[in-house]
Amino acid sequence: MQHLIDILDLSTTEIDALIATAKDIIADPAKYAEKCRGKKLATLFYEPSTRTRLSFEAAMYELGGNVLGFSEAQSSSASKGESVADTAKIISCYADIIAMRHYKEGAPLVASLNASVPVINAGDGGHNHPTQTLADLLTISREKGRLSDLTVGFCGDLKFGRTVHSLLNAMVRYENVRFVLISPEELEIPGYLRQELVKKGVGFQETQSLEDAMPSLDILYMTRVQRERFFNEADYIRLKDSYVLTPEKLVSAKADMNILHPLPRVNEISVRVDDDPRACYFKQALNGKYIRMALILKLLDIA
Ligand code: NCD
Repeated sequence: MQHLIDILDLSTTEIDALIATAKDIIADPAKYAEKCRGKKLATLFYEPSTRTRLSFEAAMYELGGNVLGFSEAQSSSASKGESVADTAKIISCYADIIAMRHYKEGAPLVASLNASVPVINAGDGGHNHPTQTLADLLTISREKGRLSDLTVGFCGDLKFGRTVHSLLNAMVRYENVRFVLISPEELEIPGYLRQELVKKGVGFQETQSLEDAMPSLDILYMTRVQRERFFNEADYIRLKDSYVLTPEKLVSAKADMNILHPLPRVNEISVRVDDDPRACYFKQALNGKYIRMALILKLLDIA
């Protein structure tokens, strides 16, 4: 039985196969409409979500399966003090596969060690978000036709942004990918990730200036400043509008640069950018459904 807790649980060959399946689903959805008939997905969300939870649920419905679950910790027995380990054992009695989001780093890992069905990490604290990464990779693959030979800029909250951590970890494994890490000093990537980049000899540059970075980028990955992970509101308020992408700032960008954002956005991308053909964030949300369909099939071992 395979879980997906960290993006590195999947080899690049497995990721490429998931992307191929997602593209096949997009080309011929009818072929997949009954694949999960009789199967149940449980979505256990201890933290707010729109895209991740609903795209998982839509994915399971489009495969002909059913869903159950909860969308806030308060409505589950967690509010009575039940442990994640016990919850995972219980849900294994009711569902064939679990997608869990939790505010504590490592909670989905604990669930996977106690569940008797596959567990998917749907975001754990400021740590990882592997299924968002799969959605990001499918988007890059569809837009660029490759996952190698790219300069990828990450901009915003690189410290707490779990989507950044997972995508960085995934992309270092592809050929000739280099990174430009754009953030205020206080929101730089965690030291353990920087050490990984150095150790692997991956090309990267850290800067505070989006303007300076812009002309070199093939992909610009914008992120929200993660308010819920700050210890103090004053720091959040000071940092929240560090970067705001506008059509004016895009003048120096490549004509075929792709703008990604895991969403939700707050202020960091002006709505005036939405009509720019380089804006891919709404397509990215749709891709999230297709790649989750592919992932559910893989973890349930359905061909
Ligand atoms: C992201 C998350 O939850 O980490 N959202 C998502 O799943 N698409 C990004 C965010 O909340 O900023």
